[in-house]
Amino acid sequence: MTTTDGPLSIDLFTDESLADPFPVYARLRATGPVVWLDTAQCWAVSRYDDVRSVLADWENFTSDQGVGLNDDVNAALQGTLLASSPPLHGTLRGVLAEQLSPRGLRNLDMDLKQRAREIVEPLVARGQFDAVQDLARVFPPTVVADLVGIPDEVRPRLIPWADAIFNMMGPGDKPRTFSGAELVREQYAWLATVDGSVLNDGSWGRAIYDAAEQGKIAPEQAPRLLSAYTSAAMDTTINALGSAVWLFAENPGQWTRLREDRSLIPSAFNEVLRLETPLQFFTRAAVRDVELAGVPIAAGDRVMVMYGSGNRDDRHFGPDASQFRIDRDAADHLAFGYGMHGCIGQGLARLEAHAVFEVLAENVESFHLLEPPVRHMNSAIRGLESVRVSVK
Ligand code: HEM
Repeated sequence: MTTTDGPLSIDLFTDESLADPFPVYARLRATGPVVWLDTAQCWAVSRYDDVRSVLADWENFTSDQGVGLNDDVNAALQGTLLASSPPLHGTLRGVLAEQLSPRGLRNLDMDLKQRAREIVEPLVARGQFDAVQDLARVFPPTVVADLVGIPDEVRPRLIPWADAIFNMMGPGDKPRTFSGAELVREQYAWLATVDGSVLNDGSWGRAIYDAAEQGKIAPEQAPRLLSAYTSAAMDTTINALGSAVWLFAENPGQWTRLREDRSLIPSAFNEVLRLETPLQFFTRAAVRDVELAGVPIAAGDRVMVMYGSGNRDDRHFGPDASQFRIDRDAADHLAFGYGMHGCIGQGLARLEAHAVFEVLAENVESFHLLEPPVRHMNSAIRGLESVRVSVK
C-alpha cells in the first residue's frame, strides 16, 4: 500500500489522542487527503470534501462489510441497517422511517419540552448539577425508552450497552475495544429474548415487530432493528447534550446570544455537533480497486471516514473552524454522516436537543464550571463523563 507521503505513525486510539484528537486530525489533513495509518490498518480520510465523497459513494465504499476497525465487530454488524446495502438497506430503513422521518415525527405525541422541563427545572432549582450525569444521561434515554416501549428493568442497561458497542468499533489490538464484550453479549442475549409483546402497545419498538409479522422484514431482523434504538440513539445524543452545556459554560457570550435570540437554537445545536462531533468516525470497505483524491485504494482496504476531523476542516468551515460560534451556518456538518446511511434519527435528536436548549434558555442566565470537566473515554464516541456547573 502506498500513501501520499509515506506511512504516518499516528495512533488515534491512545488516551491522549482520544482526549484531544484535534492536533492529530490537523496533521492528517495537512499530510494529504488520504493517508495510510499503520496503527489502525486503514486509510484515514480526514478532509471535509473527501469524507463527504466517500460517504456519497456507497457503490465503491461499502458499509455491508461492517463499519468498525476490527473483523469481530464487522462480522457481528453484517446485515444490520448500519451495515447493509440496497435493496436490504432500503427495506430496513423504511421500517424505522415510519416513525423517524420528518413525516413520522409529525405524529409524535410526546411533549418533549414538557419532558425537558420536568428534568431541567428541579436541577436549576438546586443551583448546581452535573450536566452529564443529571441531565444528558437522563433525558434522551428516558425519552427514547418511552417511545420505543423498553421495559423498566432493561432501562439502566441501555447506556452501558451502547457505550460498549461504540468501544467495539476500535482497532482489534487495543484493550479498550473489547472491554465491554460481556455487556454486548448481554444486550444480544436480551434482544434474542424479545418478542414484540414485551414492548409496550403502540410503541416504536412494537411497530418493528408488527412490520415483521406483516412480512415487511424477516423475523430475525426485528431484534437487530430494535438495537438501532438501544445503541444508536443513546451515546450520540447524550454526548451532544453534555458537550453543549460545557461549550456554553466555556463561552458565556454565546449563551447570552442564544438567550437573546432563541431562533439561533437550531444553528447552535449544529455548531455543537460540528465542533464536538459525538461519533468521530466509522469505516467503509473498498469494493474494488478505486482512486480516491488521486490515491489508489485496493479492493478490500478499510477506509476511515473521519466525521470529527471533516467538521474541523478550515478548507470548508474557514480559518475559525475550531471556534464555537452559534451563528455559524454549520448545517452541512458531517456529525450525522451523509448520503444513504446518513442518520435516520437526526430529526428526533434535534427535537430532543432543541427542547433542552429552550428550557435551559428559559431558566438559566449563565453556567459556571465548578471544576474542569472529566472526559469520557470511548473508541468512537467523543463526550464527557462529568460537567459540574452552577447556574444563575
Ligand atoms: C446527536 C445525536 C446523533 C448523532 C451525532 C448521530 C450520528 C449518526 C451518524 C454519523 C450516522 C451515520 C453512520 C454512517 O455513516 O454509517 C448515523 C446513522 C444512524 N443513526 Fe444516528 N446519530 C444521532 C442520533 C440518533 C438517534 C436519536 C437515532 C434513533 C432514534 C439514531 C439512529 C441511527 C441509525 C438507525 C443509523 C443508521 C442509518 C443507516 O445506516 O441508514 N441516531 N447516526
